[in-house]
Amino acid sequence: MRHYLSIADMTTEEMTRLFDLADRISASDLTDVDWIANTVRDFTPQLSPAAEPPYTGPANKIMALAFFEPSTRTHLSFTSAMLRLGGKALGFSGTGGTSVAKGETLADTVRMLSAYADVLAMRNPLEGSARLASEYAWIPVINGGDGAHEHPTQALMDLFTIRKEKGQIAGLTVGLVGDLLYGRTAHSLAPGLAAFGAKLVFVAPQSLQMPDYVTAKVEQTMGGVSATAETLAEVVKDLDLIYMTRVQRERFPSPEAYEAVREAYRLDRALMSAAKPDCLVLHPLPRVTEIDPRVDADPRALYFRQAAYGVPVRMALIATLLAYAVGRARRESPETVERGADQRLCANERCVLNHERHVPLAAVEQQGERCVYCEQLRRS
Ligand code: NCD
Repeated sequence: MRHYLSIADMTTEEMTRLFDLADRISASDLTDVDWIANTVRDFTPQLSPAAEPPYTGPANKIMALAFFEPSTRTHLSFTSAMLRLGGKALGFSGTGGTSVAKGETLADTVRMLSAYADVLAMRNPLEGSARLASEYAWIPVINGGDGAHEHPTQALMDLFTIRKEKGQIAGLTVGLVGDLLYGRTAHSLAPGLAAFGAKLVFVAPQSLQMPDYVTAKVEQTMGGVSATAETLAEVVKDLDLIYMTRVQRERFPSPEAYEAVREAYRLDRALMSAAKPDCLVLHPLPRVTEIDPRVDADPRALYFRQAAYGVPVRMALIATLLAYAVGRARRESPETVERGADQRLCANERCVLNHERHVPLAAVEQQGERCVYCEQLRRS
C-alpha cells in the first residue's frame, strides 16, 4: 500500500505516467464512466506493478474526505474525481458535526474512516498530520494540505498544467511569488519543479521567504540553483511562468504581522505588459488581492484552467493509489506513548506531535535533526 503525503513520494517517472493517464482522461468529456473505467484499467500496469488481475479499478470504491479546514477546490475536485471514476464519496468539511468536537483524536478518527472507505483524502491545520494519520489508517491516505507544510496534490496539478501548456518543464524559469513562508502549495511545488529541471526564483518580502527545509530540498535536487528577489518588478521579464500565492492570513501569529505584509505584492496589467509574451500565470486559488481581476482576460492567465485540471489529475492519483492497495489487510495499531500535558516533542508549535495526546512510539524515538512529520528542526 502507498500513501501520498509529500511531493517526494513519487519519482518524476511515476509522476509522468500519472500525467499521461490524466492527459488521456482529460481528452474525454469526463462523463463516460465505462470508457473511463476501461482507460484506467488499461493503464493500471503502468501505474502499479502491484495490481494483478482481477484488479477492477476505482469503480464502486468509496473515498472518505476528512476536511478539518476550509476548502472549496480540493474537497470538491476530489469528490468530483471519485464520482467521475464511478466511485462514491462521503465525509465532512469542518468538524462541527463530528466526534472531533467531542475531543476524538486524529488517530481514532482515521481508524474509523478506514472502516468506511477505501481511500482517504484529508486536510488538517497541523503540520505532519497526514503522515501521522497514515500510521493508523489501513487505507491509502492523501494529503490535501497539512497546515503550512505541504499540499502535494496541488503541486501535481500545477506540474500537469505546466507540462500541458508549455510542452515541458525542464529549462523553464519559474517565479514563485508571495507568501512562501506559510504557503504549502509552494512548499510542494518548488521541489517538484526542481526535480523536473526548472530554474526557480523565490519572490517574497524577506519576512515571507521560503523556509530552509524547502530550499534544502531544492538544493539537493538542483545543486543550489535557486535565486531570490524581493519584488516581482525586478525579475518579471526573465520569467517563463509566474506562480502567484495568497498571503496565508490564518497562519500568521498576530493580525499586526499579517497587516504588515498583506499588500506586499500585486500582479496587475502594468506588470503583465513587462512579462514575456508567452509567460503563463498560475495561482492555486483562492485569490484575494494579489491578482488584479483585470488580468483574468489576459490569455496568459491560466489559473481557472489550472483548477479544472485538478479533476483528471486527482482521478489518475486515486487510480494509482487504489492499484497499490490491492489485497490490503487490516493493520494493527502502532505502539504509542502518552505525551505529557506540557511536553513538546518538536520545536515547531504547529507540529502534529505537540497536539495529539498519544503519539506513535517511533515518533518519540525519531533520530536526526529534523522532525519526520513537519520537517522543521526538532530542537530550537
Ligand atoms: C491552497 C491551499 O489550501 O493551500 N488552496 C487550494 O487548495 N487550491 C492555497 C490557499 O489557500 O491560498
